[in-house]
Amino acid sequence: MIDIDAITVRFGGLVALNEVSATLSAPVAGIIGPNGAGKTTLMNVVSGFITAHSGRVMVEGQDFLALAPHRRAQKGLRRSFQKEQIADDLTVLENVLVQTDWSLTGWSAKRAEAMDMLAVVGLADRADKIGGALSGFERRLTDVARCMVGKPHLIMFDEPAGGLSVDETRQLGDLIVQIHTLTGAQTVIIDHDVELISRICAETLVLDFGRRIAFGPTADVLADPRVKAAYLGTEEVAQ
Ligand SMILES: Nc1ncnc2c1ncn2[C@@H]1O[C@H](COP(=O)(O)OP(=O)(O)OP(=O)(O)O)[C@@H](O)[C@H]1O
Ligand SMILES: [Mg+2]
Repeated sequence: MIDIDAITVRFGGLVALNEVSATLSAPVAGIIGPNGAGKTTLMNVVSGFITAHSGRVMVEGQDFLALAPHRRAQKGLRRSFQKEQIADDLTVLENVLVQTDWSLTGWSAKRAEAMDMLAVVGLADRADKIGGALSGFERRLTDVARCMVGKPHLIMFDEPAGGLSVDETRQLGDLIVQIHTLTGAQTVIIDHDVELISRICAETLVLDFGRRIAFGPTADVLADPRVKAAYLGTEEVAQ
């Protein structure tokens, strides 16, 4: 469970997050909202890339913002970025093993775990393929495997379906819903694909201009007039 309590982030005069609170307890929880709403900023606060001006984040009862970023990783926090973090000159297996560098587990156990997770994401037969030769979808799947090793407790994906086809997005969704059963980790996912979010997230937080405009069961949230207005507003601006 991740308990976000009154998080405020300012960049100069811009309030990127304005006292945002939500307790995410579903095995897969979603964060949605128009461009610039503050979604990535919230992930950056939880993972330690930026420091909140005020507020608190508790993960499994532990005050996370008091921990250095590497300690958060040791406590089982994993995240992916809008752009995959895959080294082009390492193999798929090496890209996954890098994630377990800090773990005290022995080499053969790390390798076995990495191969297990590559099997889960469907890349076991491409473990020796070099990062630079991977397709966009293979890069994304490698990123997911990287998040699943080393006994994760909380995995945060930032727009994992970005750039994927409809079929790839469906496969990715099927994979993400298995993560809790396979690893015990809770997953939080940001995405603009509302169909994906409604299919795999039991609960969803909606941000707009740094504020929480809705939070709760995903179906209720998507039916909320304020949420519809936020998305309609975006479309109007885009036209
Ligand atoms: N490091 C930064 N310095 C200054 N402003 C920033 C910084 N990071 C984010 N912002 C601003 O904060 C606001 C929230 O940005 P954020 O990246 O969290 O949005 P987002 O909801 O993830 O949007 P998107 O869907 O486009 O990824 C935006 O106005 C953005 O320009
Ligand atoms: Mg973002």
